[in-house]
Amino acid sequence: MKIVIIGAGRIAWHLSKRLKSKGLPVAQIISRTAEHAEALAESLHVPWSDFPADLLPDADWVIIAVRDDAIEAVAEAFAPYANNALVTHTSGGTAGAVLAPHFQRYGVFYPLQSFSLEHTPIWSKIPFCVDAQSEEDVLLLKKIAKTIGNLVYRVNDEQRSLLHVAAVFANNFANRCFAIAEKILEEKDLPFELLHPLMEETLAKALQDSPARMQTGPAMRGDAETVRRHLNLLANNPEWREIYRELSENINPDLKV
Ligand SMILES: NC(=O)c1ccc[n+]([C@@H]2O[C@H](COP(=O)([O-])OP(=O)(O)OC[C@H]3O[C@@H](n4cnc5c(N)ncnc54)[C@H](OP(=O)(O)O)[C@@H]3O)[C@@H](O)[C@H]2O)c1
Repeated sequence: MKIVIIGAGRIAWHLSKRLKSKGLPVAQIISRTAEHAEALAESLHVPWSDFPADLLPDADWVIIAVRDDAIEAVAEAFAPYANNALVTHTSGGTAGAVLAPHFQRYGVFYPLQSFSLEHTPIWSKIPFCVDAQSEEDVLLLKKIAKTIGNLVYRVNDEQRSLLHVAAVFANNFANRCFAIAEKILEEKDLPFELLHPLMEETLAKALQDSPARMQTGPAMRGDAETVRRHLNLLANNPEWREIYRELSENINPDLKV
């Protein structure tokens, strides 16, 4: 199987290494910035290019791993050279259908995890959300996902777009709340480690049961006086105050503060 990766960012690096380590070697790297393509390709000992026309004519699977906003333009640029390859992107927030006008065989291969170059992914814990326009290609993508990971789900465009929204709440927004908590402690010379056990407990409980059932805190209890006091303590930071108020009212719509 000849696999080509378009892009040389975080996903391209991690995915290409994992595929190779599982006996699914990537045959070519193509990326917009020549040095980026070269660096990744050299580490894999494969050819590289920064021109769509250089795409291997007998590629079986082309993975578009570029910034979400660039996927459509990249698809258009590679369309004349893809022949009968299966072409997938790796984006949670982009419909697979954006590839439909350009390729006969297309789909999505979305690993639902936050990747950074500094951290080695734990592949057995990464859910792969796959979909393709043909059943045959869905089976192929599922098989590959099972080879490099463990958790595989078929998720269509509509489901994946909302899954991505949910992931923003569970990951990005939760992390923003951690960052605000860290800043609040910093202002009073307190170490963030003070909150680590609480954060761990919160996550452990949310994983064990429905987080809605696990909700605690002054808003949940209806302790309006405590909530008012907290809002006053945040008077110097109207943005955090607003987040606190919105979330408290969302947790308990009957709360009057
Ligand atoms: N990182 C994650 O945690 C994660 C998780 C799941 C899915 N994804 C998805 O995977 C895809 C790639 O994400 P990433 O994190 O690997 O991104 P990244 O590290 O920021 O790398 C972005 C890549 O996009 C290329 N690119 C940017 N603008 C371009 C343009 N106008 N034309 C052509 N290529 C362009 C860059 O090419 P050059 O470097 O050659 O300039 C680079 O290789 C995205 O669709 C993202 O949603 C990411």
